[in-house]
Amino acid sequence: MIAPSILSASFGNLEKDIQMLNDSEADWIHLDIMDGVFVPNISFGIPVVNAVNKLTDKHLDAHLMIINPENYFEAFAKAGADSISFHIEATNHVHRAVQLLKNLKVKAGIVLNPHSPVSLLENIITEVDFVLIMSVNPGFGGQAFIEESYKKIKALKQLIKSNHSKALIQVDGGVNLQNSTKLYAAGADILVAGNAVFSAPNPVQMIAQIRNTKKA
Ligand code: DX5
Ligand code: ZN
Repeated sequence: MIAPSILSASFGNLEKDIQMLNDSEADWIHLDIMDGVFVPNISFGIPVVNAVNKLTDKHLDAHLMIINPENYFEAFAKAGADSISFHIEATNHVHRAVQLLKNLKVKAGIVLNPHSPVSLLENIITEVDFVLIMSVNPGFGGQAFIEESYKKIKALKQLIKSNHSKALIQVDGGVNLQNSTKLYAAGADILVAGNAVFSAPNPVQMIAQIRNTKKA
């Protein structure tokens, strides 16, 4: 699957870019929420998610790069998020946070920063719908892919298998047509792509190309 990130979209004319995504093979639309505290950047929040929700029937995937994320789960779910992921580094109560997401009937995802080991998930992997492996340091689009990420994806795949978990693996940061084959081969199920999609001459075609890499 592919989840284009609108962080690299044109905010002056977001409707046009959402329409492009509606006309594309995008499976999920990835929404990067940054608070300027957990990450050194501020993006957009609940009203924008609400506005995007009115423009599309696609699955909305909110990636919360904010501290105390559980305080905002309900607001993002009400705004239209179908899945919500939060950083393991951003709360002391990961298990509770996952239960809160389940109660809200949204898909629950845990995000690992590049330095956070997969082993942190050992006692929670059966509870989550997906795990997001950050393959850049969160905060900005257009950064270079961290090669160490392949090893983490493989380790996560192993952890999922050995625990009979149904969790999907999402990868976010520096994803493009040059690394998508290797990412799917390592075990990725959902690739997030911002810059690669929105800087492409033909974004609809780029979405299809990255999404269908496995079949190539
Ligand atoms: C980074 C965000 C990513 C970002 C990816 O903090 O979580 O979703 O938009 O952008 P690219 O694909 O440009 O690395
Ligand atoms: Zn993201």
